[in-house]
Amino acid sequence: MKADVVLGLQWGDEGKGKIVDVLCDRYQAVARYHGGSNAGHTLEFNGQKVVLSVLPSGIFNRKIRNVIGSGVVLDVAALRRELNALESLGHRVIDWQNLLISKKAHLVLPTHCLLDRFAEERLGERKIGSTQKGIAPAYADKILRKGIRVGDLLQPDFALRCRKLMEDHAKQLQVLFSEEIDLETLYQKFMENINILRQFTLIDTEPVLQEILNSGGRILAEGAQATLLDLDHGSYPFVTSSSTLSGGACVGLGIAPQRIGEVYGVFKAYCTRVGNGPFPTEIKNGDTKKLRELGNEFGAVTKRPRRTGWLDLPALKYAIMLNGVTKLIITKVDVLSAMETVQVCTHYLVDGKRMDLVSTWVDSDKATPVFKEFKSWGNVNGIREKSQLPVTLIDYVTFLEKELGIPIVYISVGPDRTQMVER
Ligand code: GTP
Repeated sequence: MKADVVLGLQWGDEGKGKIVDVLCDRYQAVARYHGGSNAGHTLEFNGQKVVLSVLPSGIFNRKIRNVIGSGVVLDVAALRRELNALESLGHRVIDWQNLLISKKAHLVLPTHCLLDRFAEERLGERKIGSTQKGIAPAYADKILRKGIRVGDLLQPDFALRCRKLMEDHAKQLQVLFSEEIDLETLYQKFMENINILRQFTLIDTEPVLQEILNSGGRILAEGAQATLLDLDHGSYPFVTSSSTLSGGACVGLGIAPQRIGEVYGVFKAYCTRVGNGPFPTEIKNGDTKKLRELGNEFGAVTKRPRRTGWLDLPALKYAIMLNGVTKLIITKVDVLSAMETVQVCTHYLVDGKRMDLVSTWVDSDKATPVFKEFKSWGNVNGIREKSQLPVTLIDYVTFLEKELGIPIVYISVGPDRTQMVER
């Protein structure tokens, strides 16, 4: 069988967590393949709202395996906080035995978080928009071949290696940012937090995933952040530090490309972006505040207000191309219900030339977006059947499908697990 991928086609916060939670019943495993606690996947069910930043979004399904793959950078302090928060809501994940953690995943040390924070602060006006969770420094150490992996915990020199790397970071903090840190306290706390890993199965996850596929099972690979934040193909340097694409699922899970099946591309009916970087369809008038409030567009983890804009087809076409998307899922159409009209950017004009697909990021002030206007569709929160969808929404979705050339298989009409319309 195949591994399917769920990933975001815009700048993140498309609602991937909900989609994984809804789809995961059909799979034997859900696997995170990149990123770390900079993700913020929100699930709503039975009147409860939970935000997952470390655990895969299939974790509430106790019958399936949830995997943190080798491409992930794991912050054990964040994992511990997340487990405690879930326990206070009545979910004792430790007892469920449904989480496997790759021995090859790299660890985020507390000093990585400090390096991230001070590096971002020093950028001043040119800030990247880092979540300051230590992700970029952890990936940098991985690339520099200095990183410490989950499996190293089982080696006798683990404590010594952690201390040495943290000392190295302390020197960098001193030299680069004139910051003195209390290394001993940070180190002791980290060594205490790391013990949480001993309660889970630490394993080479690639053979486990392969075995699931070989025995007729299916895997759902869960992307975080999104395509336009991809390290190689996003609007560099305003990107994340990992490969967010469907190809990243092969690398981050050790799954061969021919074993990838469906690629579900998730996109919002409008756009949002956290942090700096080009955003040609950004709304600059009063609608931006309205949309932000209607869509609750504030970071799930950081609470930062998100910039808002209209749907951007040239950018979506690029994202579809990069990922080989086979099925589309549109989310948050309900948020647009209260808008008088809905705009879609069909193409840009750059120096008078038409641009249908973004592949080189142009400055927002050089690209003039050309919009097509649609009528809005009134309240859709309660709709569950496609036959009940308003004609105006059907027109909008059909237009998008035609432009993008890929079927839209689900329409999400609210944050709850049940608020989905299958087409
Ligand atoms: P990242 O990996 O951090 O990019 O997150 P994500 O793509 O999983 O998005 P997130 O879980 O942050 O979703 C954004 C918000 O949208 C959450 O509060 C969800 O509950 C909510 N949400 C998801 N689908 C819908 C929808 O169809 N309508 C509405 N109104 N909210 C939705």
